Amino acid sequence: MLLRVANDRTADNKPEVNAPADPHFIRERISDYYVRRKIELWQGRHPLQGLSPRPGDIKVRSNDYLCLAGHPHVIESEIAALREGGHGDSVSRVWIHHERDVIRDFEQRIAGLMRAEDAVLCSSGYTANVGLVQSFAAKGTPVHLDMKAHISLREGVVSAGAAPILFRHNDPRSLDRALAATGPGLVAIDALYSTDGDIAPLAAFVEVCERHGAALIVDETHSFGAQGPGGAGLVVAAGLAERVHFRTVGLSKAVASRGGVIVCSRRNAEYFRYESLPSIFSTSVMQHEVAGFAAVLDILHSEDWRRTRLHANHAYLKAGLDDLGYNVEASKTQIIALEAGDIRQTTTLRDALESRGVFGAIFFPPATPEKRCLMRFTLNCGLGRAELDRIIEVCADIREEVGMAEWRSTRRKSTAAKAPAAKAAAPGPGLGRRGLLDDGRHNWQLNREGGADVYLGPARDRAAAALNNHPAE
Ligand SMILES: Cc1ncc(COP(=O)(O)O)c(C=O)c1O
Repeated sequence: MLLRVANDRTADNKPEVNAPADPHFIRERISDYYVRRKIELWQGRHPLQGLSPRPGDIKVRSNDYLCLAGHPHVIESEIAALREGGHGDSVSRVWIHHERDVIRDFEQRIAGLMRAEDAVLCSSGYTANVGLVQSFAAKGTPVHLDMKAHISLREGVVSAGAAPILFRHNDPRSLDRALAATGPGLVAIDALYSTDGDIAPLAAFVEVCERHGAALIVDETHSFGAQGPGGAGLVVAAGLAERVHFRTVGLSKAVASRGGVIVCSRRNAEYFRYESLPSIFSTSVMQHEVAGFAAVLDILHSEDWRRTRLHANHAYLKAGLDDLGYNVEASKTQIIALEAGDIRQTTTLRDALESRGVFGAIFFPPATPEKRCLMRFTLNCGLGRAELDRIIEVCADIREEVGMAEWRSTRRKSTAAKAPAAKAAAPGPGLGRRGLLDDGRHNWQLNREGGADVYLGPARDRAAAALNNHPAE
């Protein structure tokens, strides 16, 4: 049989194999992808198929915000753990009871950093969210989700057989009305939104949840490590750690690895550890990966400059793009999106950027609405001034080619600029009265609703000063 496969080869030297014919319901299910999307909408080319970066090109599409993926302390810790214990037991989280449980050590450390009683390690941020909602909500529990909250939270609702209810993005009043109608339930929001860098008005959401007796889940996947004192996240930055029931973290962003964590009370952590379906039925991360997470916690503590530099890079690039006319108002930190419109406009933008050596990430349905596709730039602390200037230069060059002036996002910006009085009278999240929260090393800005902005002062000047003053360059 093996011999037969080896002899039957196609022209491109692949073994000749036949797949089974799909039944009708599968053909129906995938036809929307092949016919409406791939052929009609994308004209045969999947939007994710862009160019490959060449040496010297600028990549602003990684979530390794603090440039820790190759940090010597992380790599050496992982190698040492691999040498000592290989991959570990290769079983679900519920079965791991080492003499010295590295997972438990890590859970206690991250709980301490995030000022919570306890934490549970999961195999990804996605399963942390799914498992959390699945195990705490039941059929009939109202689960209120910010309409832009991460899709995994919605998957958790489906898994629980509960009722998903969407409220308007970053709008505590919309949540207030919804909770008044349903009574107490679970509420889930992201602290920092991954598509455009928008930040939740955390204090206002906490207040609404407390008033209605609801339990709040805050997904800190993009804020952990990059925001808050010691990288503890935005809930800690806003002084709300004791008022939020659950926080989740995907370890795939500033921690530059894979894995997830839920952070909560001791009582809820034990229940989740032994009862959530992913804890029981999915294999835990490997021991050397946990050693890597622990090394990242060391670095978050000792190398504060990485956050300072990340925030300076953000302020500099945002100010530069804003000056060029792009609407980057939503971006409060490290993630900046250029919202081009539909997929055709956005692939035009992507191609223009990539042909000039700037590589971001293209976002389109189901990650965005049809008419609000975007190119996302995720910044990191390793970008130098020359690279940021190059991105700004390229974005200046392409404005006409990509039709920036006609984008709906650009028109929204122009309209807002023409109505400064209205804007001042109704500040949105991040625009209102400022307060200060000093973590001993940075001044954190609190916006009117208690969400934390990350950088004080006139953005570009301050950012340029920080960029010029950095030990790592
Ligand atoms: C806000 C948010 N939550 C959860 C996840 C899932 O995390 P992970 O990739 O670690 O599974 C992601 C993203 O990728 C995310 O952006």
